[in-house]
Amino acid sequence: CRVLVLISGNGSNLQAIIDGCDDNVNAEVVGVISNKADAYGLVRAHHSEIDTSCVIARKDESRQQYDLRLQTVIERYQPDLIVLAGFMRILSDEFVSQYLGKMINTHPSLLPKYAGLHTHQRAIDAKDTEHGASVHFVIPELDAGPVILQAKVPVYDEDTVETLSSRVHEQEHAIYPLVVKWFSLKRLIMHDNCAFLDGEKI
Ligand code: GRF
Repeated sequence: CRVLVLISGNGSNLQAIIDGCDDNVNAEVVGVISNKADAYGLVRAHHSEIDTSCVIARKDESRQQYDLRLQTVIERYQPDLIVLAGFMRILSDEFVSQYLGKMINTHPSLLPKYAGLHTHQRAIDAKDTEHGASVHFVIPELDAGPVILQAKVPVYDEDTVETLSSRVHEQEHAIYPLVVKWFSLKRLIMHDNCAFLDGEKI
């Protein structure tokens, strides 16, 4: 399974996926694409001798134009699976529709709770006792695709965004490589807007 990872920043999830693929003969990270030239994830990729590309948004281009350029670069890698790992851009419906069932994302909340940004602050503000991360298939609607796997963490009274987000991150690093593994073993598919593992609806 040719895995292509899209990032914008630190790339700790990318690292977890690289490490997971090292132990999985069925999956290989064939490339990393960033929309930021200074994303630390690019350094991680270089350390692992993984090919990288940057697709930086231009001031005067539309979302569709950016997504078309992104698509051209993606196609060079001939990926079987596109993994969004902290890729901080909204993707156009046309773009997403081409990769249905082939693109996954990790979101730092227990979806459908807290789609969008500032999830940790929102969980703290709501005095939630439980928070977490969700890996899901990507569909045109933002953070709304079928959930594949979630991990829960407790929220403590004294939590700050920093303490809570690091607890959630740790869980993402456990569940994201596992989902990539399931996909590479062809155990995981999306059908009719639902996720199936080993033929069972999740
Ligand atoms: C993760 O928490 C992910 O859920 C969110 O962005 C963060 C990326 O972190 N979409 P990293 O770049 O993988 O360290």
